[in-house]
Amino acid sequence: MSTLASIPDSPPFVVRARLLTPLSDGGTMHEPDALVVVDDDGRIAWVGPAADQPEPLAAASAIDLRPLVVMPGLIDLHVHLPQLPNAGVGAGLELLTWLERHIFPLERAWVDRTVAERLAPAAFRAFAHAGTTTILAYGAVFAPSMDAAFEAAEAHGIRAILGKVMMDRATYDESIAPSTILERSLRESADLAARWHGAADGRLGYAVTPRFAVSCTADMLRESAALAASTGSWWQTHISEDHGEIAEVARLFPEAIDYLDVYDRAGGLGARTVLAHGVHLTDREVARLAETGTRLAHCPSSNLFLASGLMPLARYLEAGLVIGLGSDVAAGPELSMFSAMRVGAYVQNALRVVGGEERASLGPLDWLRMGTLEGARALGLDDVIGSIEVGKEADLIAVDPSLIAPVPGVTDDTPADLMSRLIFRAHPDMVRAAWVRGRLLEGPTTIAVV
Ligand code: GUN
Ligand code: ZN
Repeated sequence: MSTLASIPDSPPFVVRARLLTPLSDGGTMHEPDALVVVDDDGRIAWVGPAADQPEPLAAASAIDLRPLVVMPGLIDLHVHLPQLPNAGVGAGLELLTWLERHIFPLERAWVDRTVAERLAPAAFRAFAHAGTTTILAYGAVFAPSMDAAFEAAEAHGIRAILGKVMMDRATYDESIAPSTILERSLRESADLAARWHGAADGRLGYAVTPRFAVSCTADMLRESAALAASTGSWWQTHISEDHGEIAEVARLFPEAIDYLDVYDRAGGLGARTVLAHGVHLTDREVARLAETGTRLAHCPSSNLFLASGLMPLARYLEAGLVIGLGSDVAAGPELSMFSAMRVGAYVQNALRVVGGEERASLGPLDWLRMGTLEGARALGLDDVIGSIEVGKEADLIAVDPSLIAPVPGVTDDTPADLMSRLIFRAHPDMVRAAWVRGRLLEGPTTIAVV
């Protein structure tokens, strides 16, 4: 019998467990009795059936986590740290109304660094509890609060790419003269990128973060894209989320062909760019995204919560877009990526019913891939994380399948059935452990493993 104390908290270690992971070659590995060997540096040195263990690996030294299932840590490609306190509030409001009423007051509170100091560590624990080991997140417009958030991420151990929000039109920061916003926002973003991009041996990263075309001038969009390129940072913003927002962008940028063209003219498209939502993209926009390799963060829970629309995921995938999943808290009510997968699957079903969508919907293992390896690919980190394969860093979670059984004793023999129940019967406490680079994260309600 193993107990709480036996959950390994730092590398090196060997765990024995049921294993489920997408593979880089397109397949899935499901192994009821597997070993995962994590080396001194927190990398995966060996993975495979316990029966095939290589010599001189001592099976006796393996920590037996069965019946837990070890999977790759989940990747949240779009989330807003200051917004967590209002998660679950404001369903059905139009985006621009919801931002004014429920969101800008919360972000304004980050003018005080101590608010971020209190909230960010709790947020990172909550991500780990949900099984999320990598986030691409927005902060607020205030630079000191971003330092606090990065410091908290550094201490917690989560893999985090964060960005100070940039807004030089319709901002909530009343302390700053409009004529100086652009210059100051660029300077602060550059300073943050210099301090944090690549910090903690590459576990932390910077994303230059103009909020969206409604709150940024063409100058801000262009200069921010140039800053991302010159610092090697990511560039993230929102696109085509709801109809009111799209109409406002058309009004503000009459010279642009469509919403995406606003970002294209700014030099913002490419493989280091992650655009959130894209619910209502035209065929031209989809083709241009594919052509430029620009990434999309699909946030299905958010899109239903704010009644933004049903994103035609299958059409976008067919066009060759690289798409990961985002919780988009607080427009998405829950941090859990299992929850995002569930809502995403329901949206695809709804599109079949009401939209006449004839393309095949994704299966449970496709959703697993999107929440892990595709998220990693969207970040250009698929050679580092996203699956449990030799040479990758050990960003792992251990999930308890007993909590999702419909009645005690029911087990899922096939990987698709297991993943299906993790998605459609997700339990808030089912993630028992989460590791980044083999280091256990504080957050999951770790219990004794019997
Ligand atoms: N568009 C611009 N800002 C936001 C935000 O904070 N949340 C969402 N869902 N959409 C946005
Ligand atoms: Zn968002």
